[in-house]
Amino acid sequence: MILNEAEALRTAATGQAPRLNVLAGRTVANLFFEDSTRTRCSFTLAARRLGADVLDLTSAGSSVSKGETIVDTALNLQAMGVGAFVVRCSASGGPHMIAAAVDVPVINAGDGKHEHPTQGLLDVMTLRQSLGDLRGRTIGIVGDIVSSRVARSAMFAITILGGNVVTIGPPTLVPKAFEKIECGPGNVRVSHDLDAELPSLDAIMMLRVQFERSGGGPAIISGDYRELYGLNQSRLNRLPGHAPVLHPGPVNRGLELDSDVMDDPKRSLILAQVANGVAVRMAVLRMLLANGG
Ligand code: CP
Repeated sequence: MILNEAEALRTAATGQAPRLNVLAGRTVANLFFEDSTRTRCSFTLAARRLGADVLDLTSAGSSVSKGETIVDTALNLQAMGVGAFVVRCSASGGPHMIAAAVDVPVINAGDGKHEHPTQGLLDVMTLRQSLGDLRGRTIGIVGDIVSSRVARSAMFAITILGGNVVTIGPPTLVPKAFEKIECGPGNVRVSHDLDAELPSLDAIMMLRVQFERSGGGPAIISGDYRELYGLNQSRLNRLPGHAPVLHPGPVNRGLELDSDVMDDPKRSLILAQVANGVAVRMAVLRMLLANGG
């Protein structure tokens, strides 16, 4: 339902169409206690393109920097009439703590290593635009899976839609336990051999190595990671011709993804993912806030 809404909102999401006024008089607060470009800007644009007012808070410049808790911050903003919170933080479960305290919708915009639900939605929206029905399709997710909230949300979304996921990377970053997290008709498999998997993938999603969460580890620092798991032109040529390349961003160019692959207009859907992010977030905000929610 959200994906159909998002498809219907694609023109409005471009910024080339008149603003919709379905959220006129409502206020959305972005609480971004961890850095973001794509998610924060696209939630701001999504809310404005639906006619809402937007408040933008980060730790720096707000009283969080003086020790105020994120729950107290949200309660104070709710007292000012905020109608929904969009929350990013480095602590898994942070948005849920706020949701337990306030009386308005709270949207998780990425919490620690836990989940990034609207990223999962925009990923499957982009995959469906390229591949059609995901049932029976095999999507490779490559890299730092253990630290990745993006991977968790993508796995849930893909398997719910009947797609299969192969999580690929070194054993330290892709533990076998991930085979237990499928939650739909599709399944999740773990592999440590990217080259063996390439010919059978219908799409490949490269993940950023998250130095801020995992510290990288010796394989990454030594350069083995790029050699074993980086997507370069030679590996792109071994993927089926119909298989697109995705990445949630931001990209470590030349580590998990080479620049010529990232910038290949025929194979890379990275900027299409970003564009779809505005439409998905408009759909989520409209569903939660328009006509009383
Ligand atoms: N994909 C994503 O969450 O990017 P940002 O960290 O820039 O929001």
